[in-house]
Amino acid sequence: MKRSDNDTWDLASSVGATATMVAAGRARATNAENPLIEDRFAEPLVAAVGVEFFTRWATGELDVAEVDLPNAPWGLQRMTDMMVARTRYFDAFFSDAAGAGIRQAVILASGLDARGYRLSWPSNMTVFEIDQPQVIEFKITTLADMGAEPAADLRAVPIDLRHDWPTALVQAGFDASLPSAWLAEGLLAFLPPEAQDRLLDNITALSTVGSRLAAEIFMNAPDGAAQAEMMRTYTQRWRDHGLDLDPTELRYDGERNDVATYLDSHGWRSVRTSLSQLLADNGLPPLPDNEDALFFRENYYCTSIFGKEANGN
Ligand SMILES: C[S@@+](CC[C@H](N)C(=O)[O-])C[C@H]1O[C@@H](n2cnc3c(N)ncnc32)[C@H](O)[C@@H]1O
Repeated sequence: MKRSDNDTWDLASSVGATATMVAAGRARATNAENPLIEDRFAEPLVAAVGVEFFTRWATGELDVAEVDLPNAPWGLQRMTDMMVARTRYFDAFFSDAAGAGIRQAVILASGLDARGYRLSWPSNMTVFEIDQPQVIEFKITTLADMGAEPAADLRAVPIDLRHDWPTALVQAGFDASLPSAWLAEGLLAFLPPEAQDRLLDNITALSTVGSRLAAEIFMNAPDGAAQAEMMRTYTQRWRDHGLDLDPTELRYDGERNDVATYLDSHGWRSVRTSLSQLLADNGLPPLPDNEDALFFRENYYCTSIFGKEANGN
């Protein structure tokens, strides 16, 4: 399904299904023999959404070796590894931010992220979650039905990030005079380039000195069509196994501003960590040494601090 300016979704369709997909990756990683992450909410949340392919992947019932193409930079096992790497990176980001005294976090495009329930937040922490209404509502209701208790003062902000979310965030109690920790995990590629800039501008306008932002940046290849075609070969077998989802149709291709460069020209100081580095830091298999992996190597994770040097001085 192609994108449009005001498209909406639930967790089984369009961009919403990618939230279930990455949660399934976290569930698979949690269920691994020697797990490097623990997200005990991921599997029940994925099961509650009810997309069979993701549920079978999450539980381990699906044999990923039957689905993945050998030596490909993308596939279910690669995604599981990437979820491990990025979950650890962003968990550490919030832990460092809390350690630095920040008591206000904003999880943009929260999807099935359960950090509001599973991290050890300081007692006076407020966590805001922003996503489309159907996504937010499903997660809150499902976790409440499971008896899960938020680990912070958790506030839902159900709104599209292409709309006036800053007003909705402030109405939910966000205080722009306090430093905050922002997270954009698995989001930016789903926003048109100008919406990405607007999002970063809005974050900057709502950030006081010492605020932090962590983001995941997927690079677009210069030839978006060739990149989409390549990705499609990796996901072709998903269809054979019953999943009708083409993530390449959901992204916005084409030129966009580089996130770290953009932020640094707007008062932030950013530190980048490449995906390859993050995989190595976690002892995970490197990306394959082939041409298809080239643009994955450009993907990076970024932590930025507003109005200060990134080392905190
Ligand atoms: C790949 S998922 C990532 C979810 C979550 N951050 C995680 O890592 O588990 C993408 C998420 O972005 C959200 N999203 C994408 N575009 C959005 C928009 N314009 N407004 C609100 N949410 C959006 C989707 O609803 C979905 O939950």
